[in-house]
Amino acid sequence: MAAGSWRRSIAAQLSKVLDLPPENLIKSISAVPVSKKRHVADFQLSIASVIENSSSDCLAQDLHLQAQKLAERLKCDAVVSEISAGPGTVNFTINRELLAKAVLQQVFKDGSEYGVKSEIFSAVPRQKAVIEFSSPNIAKKFHIGHLRSTIVGNFIANLKLALGHEVVRINYLGDWGMQFGLLGVGFQSFGNKEKLKSSPLQHLFEVYVQINKAAEDENTKKLAKDFFRKLEEHDEQTLSLWKQFRDFSIEEYIQIYKRLGVHFDEYSGESHYREKAQEVLKMLEDKGLLQKTTKGTGIVDLSEKKDLSSVCTVMRSDGTSLYITRDLAAAIDRMNKHSCDTMIYVTDKSQSHHFQQLFQILKLMGYDWAERCQHVSFGLVQGMKTRRGEVIFLEDVLNEVRSRMLQNMTSAKTTKEIQDPMETAEKVGLAALIIQDFRGLLSSDYQFSWDRALQSRGDTGVFLQYTHARLHRYDEVLYRSSQDLQPKHIVSYLLTLSHLVAVAHKTLPVRGSTPEVAQARLCLFQAARSVLANGMKLLGITPVTQM
Ligand code: ARG
Repeated sequence: MAAGSWRRSIAAQLSKVLDLPPENLIKSISAVPVSKKRHVADFQLSIASVIENSSSDCLAQDLHLQAQKLAERLKCDAVVSEISAGPGTVNFTINRELLAKAVLQQVFKDGSEYGVKSEIFSAVPRQKAVIEFSSPNIAKKFHIGHLRSTIVGNFIANLKLALGHEVVRINYLGDWGMQFGLLGVGFQSFGNKEKLKSSPLQHLFEVYVQINKAAEDENTKKLAKDFFRKLEEHDEQTLSLWKQFRDFSIEEYIQIYKRLGVHFDEYSGESHYREKAQEVLKMLEDKGLLQKTTKGTGIVDLSEKKDLSSVCTVMRSDGTSLYITRDLAAAIDRMNKHSCDTMIYVTDKSQSHHFQQLFQILKLMGYDWAERCQHVSFGLVQGMKTRRGEVIFLEDVLNEVRSRMLQNMTSAKTTKEIQDPMETAEKVGLAALIIQDFRGLLSSDYQFSWDRALQSRGDTGVFLQYTHARLHRYDEVLYRSSQDLQPKHIVSYLLTLSHLVAVAHKTLPVRGSTPEVAQARLCLFQAARSVLANGMKLLGITPVTQM
C-alpha cells in the first residue's frame, strides 16, 4: 500500500461523512511536512478546502471548531489509528504496523527507484532541462564558488535525471576576454610547453600571475592588446596557442571532476559566442532595443517607463561584446540546439542581477521561453583554506579533504582493515564537504570549517523524535527538493534516518533474536541502507562499504 492508497482510504471515509466525491477530497489531503520536530500526524485535511462558502475572513476559531466537529464524526479503522483536530486541520495517523510493512515492501520492490517511482511524481510531466554549472575561468582561480556550483549543479542534474527528466550538463568556461591577451604574452616569456602539457591548470595560473605583475608597464599592456586583437581576428598561430590552453585545461578538468563523480555533456564557453554575440547586437538593433550612449556604448533600456532609469550595457564603444552579450547568444543557441523546457544556471548570488537582466532582455527580444529560465543561486562561503594556504585549484580542496579524512581514520585505528584507505578517505571526505554545504538553504552564506565538516558524530539540532515509520516520507522529501531544487530537505532526512538507524541498531538486535524477528529486523536495516544509498547518490556522494 503506497502513500496514495492511504490518502484514498482516508478520502473514502470522509466522502461518506461529508457527502462529497472522494476524488475532490484526495486533493485536499496532504502529507504533514517532514521538517516538523515532533510527530503530529501523517496526513492532514485542511478544513477550509472542504467547507462550502469558506472565505478567507472565516475566523480561525471557527475553523478549529469545524475541524473538531468533523474529527468527532470520523472513526479509526484498519488503516487510520488516530484522528485529531488541529487549528484548521483534521489530522490522521496511519496504523504503524501496516505502515511499516507497506514501506518495507515498497522499498524492496522499487530498489534503487524507491522514492522516485512514487505516484506523487506521476502528474509531473517529463521535461528536458539544460543545466549549466561549474563554469570556471581558465588561468584563474577555481574558487569555492565554482566548487559550490559544481556540487549543486550535479545534484540538480542527478535529481532531475532520477525523476525521469532529460538532462544536458553544460560547463560554460571563462575562455575568452582580455585576460587571454595577457596570458598569451605571458606564455611567450614565461611559458613552457612541457609544463603546459603535464599540469596545464597550475602552469597557466602561474604564468598569468607572473605576467600580471609585469602588466603595469605600457609595453606589456600593448602587447597583450595586440595578442587579443589577433585572437579576435582569427590569426591562426595565436588561435592555435589559445586552443592549446583551452584543450589541455579541459583535459585536466575532466580528470578532476571525475574524482567528484561529475561529468559534462558539453564543454562550452564564452569563446563560442563572440560571433553570435555580434548577431545578437544586430537583432537588438533590428528590434529597436539597442540605444547608443554619448560615449558610444550600446545599452538596452530595461525600465518599465522606458525612461532609462534601469539599463544594461551590451556593447563596448569599440563595438565588441560583453559578458552579458555572450550570455544572450549562448542562451538563444542552447534553446535552438536542445529545445529544452527549462534552462538552469547555477552560480553564486553575486550574479543574480546579471541573470535577471539576461532573462529580461531575452523576454524583450520576444523569447517567451525566457520565463522558463532559472538562476539557482547560492551564498558565499568564507574561510576555506588548506594547510598549504589559499585554495587555488579544485584539486587542492580534494587533496586536503582526503588527507584530513585519512588522518582521522588512522587515529580512529580502523584504517588497517580497509583495502583502499585513500579511496575511502576521498569518498567519505567528499560526503563531509557536500553535507556541510547542503545542510542549509543554498542562499545562506556560511563559514567554512574543516573540523565541523569532518566531525564523525552528532549532526546537532536534529531531534530524534521522529517515529521510525517516517521512512515513508522519502518520496515527499524528493518531491520538495524537486520543487525548489534545495538539497537540504534530502540531507536532513538522511541524517535523521541515520540517527534512527543508530538507535535501532542498539535496541533491535538481529543476532540472538528468534528467526522470524531477526528476519524482520534485517529487512528493516536493509531497507534503510537502500534508502540511504539512493539519497546519497542523488547528492553526488558515493556510498562506501567500509571506513
Ligand atoms: N565563468 C563565470 C565566473 O566564474 C561563471 C559563468 C556563469 N555562467 C554564465 N552563463 N554566465 O564567474
